[in-house]
Amino acid sequence: MRVAVVGTGYVGLVVGTGLAEIGHFVTCADSDEQRIEQLLQGKLPIYEPGLEELLLRNAEEGRLSFTAHLAEAVENSSVIFICVGTPSGEEGEADVSAVMDVARAIGACMTGYRVIVIKSTCPVGTSDRVEELMKQLTSHPFDVVCNPEFLREGAAVDDFLRPDRVIIGCEDVRVEELMKELYRPVLRTGNPFLTMSRRSAELAKYACNALLAARIALLNEIACLCEEYGGDISAIREAAATDRRIGPQYLHPSLGFGGSCLPKDVAACAKLARDAGLASGILESILEANQRQQERFLQRILGYYGEKIGEKTLALWGVTFKARTDDVRGAPALRIIDALLERGATVRVYDPAAGDKIRSMYGARVLVASKCYEVLEGADGLIIPTEWREFQSPDYERMGQLMRERVIFDGRNLYSPRNIATYGFKYFSIGRAPI
Ligand SMILES: NC(=O)c1ccc[n+]([C@@H]2O[C@H](COP(=O)([O-])OP(=O)(O)OC[C@H]3O[C@@H](n4cnc5c(N)ncnc54)[C@H](O)[C@@H]3O)[C@@H](O)[C@H]2O)c1
Repeated sequence: MRVAVVGTGYVGLVVGTGLAEIGHFVTCADSDEQRIEQLLQGKLPIYEPGLEELLLRNAEEGRLSFTAHLAEAVENSSVIFICVGTPSGEEGEADVSAVMDVARAIGACMTGYRVIVIKSTCPVGTSDRVEELMKQLTSHPFDVVCNPEFLREGAAVDDFLRPDRVIIGCEDVRVEELMKELYRPVLRTGNPFLTMSRRSAELAKYACNALLAARIALLNEIACLCEEYGGDISAIREAAATDRRIGPQYLHPSLGFGGSCLPKDVAACAKLARDAGLASGILESILEANQRQQERFLQRILGYYGEKIGEKTLALWGVTFKARTDDVRGAPALRIIDALLERGATVRVYDPAAGDKIRSMYGARVLVASKCYEVLEGADGLIIPTEWREFQSPDYERMGQLMRERVIFDGRNLYSPRNIATYGFKYFSIGRAPI
């Protein structure tokens, strides 16, 4: 099929490349001309493992192209995916203005029947709004489908090509069949193709993210109980994860979740509840608990150094909101960096993928190193906000020799407290007694 993908961010680029990989002819469009120029030169604007190779190969084989002109993409495609951002508005609502802009532009330039597929995460009712808007702009027939995306940054290519399920919210069986045909190559292993109403599909995305965020927040709250009453969250996690009713996924203690999805989608879901006059206590609490967790971790660092913080040099390993991505949106590490800088501390950072982003955000205020041990030289402490693999079995001896003071604040519980104690480190982790 001939497909257009509008928005070439973390979702759009993976979706466009993935669809090309399974044989479709895809034109990716973005209003950011610089981004398209970069893509035309074969340079990726984001880091996502495995994406570059797939993108370049599909472009070379003529199944994947890029344009800054939406009309060109719409002209050549029967199915158009909308993958633009839906950031948080002032009251937590999802700002769907980019989705509506794209719908308006498609309506104005389409020349025949089109299927509009909304992949951006949008509040319930957005597909209806898109349909209404487009009806006023075009006399050509069209259908609007809600097809929420569940890929995880860091594993996005695999998630797209081997999804747990594909969800299609749609009001017409013929369009359902067309979408099934489009996705057929990724459904060969028997993964469910779930069809439902558009409103159900819109809510399904929010429901999944709210449930995932709730698990993380709840485990972190239990980690706080461990810290206060003396328990080890690792043991408790194992006890819970081996219960088949609970399972191991999204059950890792941490300094709190970040990113561009969980916080924003839970906030949008809570706003939907408030708008409907419903009590949204649990949804609001997830966000509050997550904020508290981030603050608790930060206060542990600040409390340790006290008034002397301004004289200290702190090193960070990892800034991104999780490993295997260069995405720093909503990353808890940014709050830590800001708080340290505010108090006059010297901050050094190493991140395997986001170094350039940090440089452009902080300039000379933060030293960004290109190797992880570099930041440790003369450091008064190491903070670990992200669980990159290269941090997981470090050379403790070398670390200790480089650092002025052997202190680690681990926001991901990467190390065994007993092991690290033998190297003379003070070690603060989540949900375990400090050593
Ligand atoms: N990032 C994720 O892991 C993830 C996972 C599932 C769903 N989602 C959802 O997918 C959507 C996109 O997220 P993302 O992380 O890819 O966002 P992003 O910010 O990385 O990318 C959005 C892209 O859309 C482009 N864009 C904005 N307005 C445009 C317009 N009018 N015309 C053409 N292009 C335009 C931007 O230039 C940008 O390249 C959001 O609704 C998000 O909630 C994201």
